[in-house]
Amino acid sequence: MHFWIPLVSLFLAGLLPESQAWWFFESSGRQEAEGPISETCIAKASRGVCDFYPCFDQRHPCEDDNYALTYGWRFCSQFELHYTRLDDEGKRWVNATRKCAMAAMLEFYNDDNVNCQDVEAEMIEAHGECEAQNGLCSASLLQNNNHVFEDIYGVNERSANRLLQSLKHCGRSQARELVQWLGTRFETLIPNLREFFQSWGDKIKEGVSGIIENIRS
Ligand SMILES: *[C@@H]1O[C@H](CO)[C@@H](O)[C@H](O)[C@H]1NC(C)=O
Repeated sequence: MHFWIPLVSLFLAGLLPESQAWWFFESSGRQEAEGPISETCIAKASRGVCDFYPCFDQRHPCEDDNYALTYGWRFCSQFELHYTRLDDEGKRWVNATRKCAMAAMLEFYNDDNVNCQDVEAEMIEAHGECEAQNGLCSASLLQNNNHVFEDIYGVNERSANRLLQSLKHCGRSQARELVQWLGTRFETLIPNLREFFQSWGDKIKEGVSGIIENIRS
């Protein structure tokens, strides 16, 4: 019965003069870009430079759910600060993960309208995927750079959930192995770890949405 409502809204929005279209974007949670696309900003993304994030924020300043500053810039700068403490594998991983995540974020950057909540949710996914693709699933990365990870993320339920959210992109068996390697301290931080692995498969998205809530809070 309700399927046509979005269609009607789209139709109505199309009839509106440009200046009145804002309410439509407001009501769908989208906001218009506040700055132009900058080539300098795009170049920062392709080099994987942390400054890309404040640059993103200038074009799409998000009040709540500001992924660019609260996640992107914050952790990028933290890794910059501790960069020399990472081993070569860690350094290569940071470099590659940054470029990969910024390439994903560039799609939002180029959009004229974004929904900040979507940007945040999709970037948490994309970042986790980038971390996994570029070597997070190798135990040696976590093992040999453990202290840096701990100093950056802290050892608490939120950081454990955040890591789990990335490890899910390693596939079930590898994620299980890594979690086992991380040991009982990690397991006690995530009381519902068992359910997480049980719900792997069709229900993985549901399991993970709870985790995203945890990461946010
Ligand atoms: C990482 O990137 C920086 C800056 O682009 C570069 O100087 C460095 O050589 C790179 N390190 C590795 C291990 O790729």
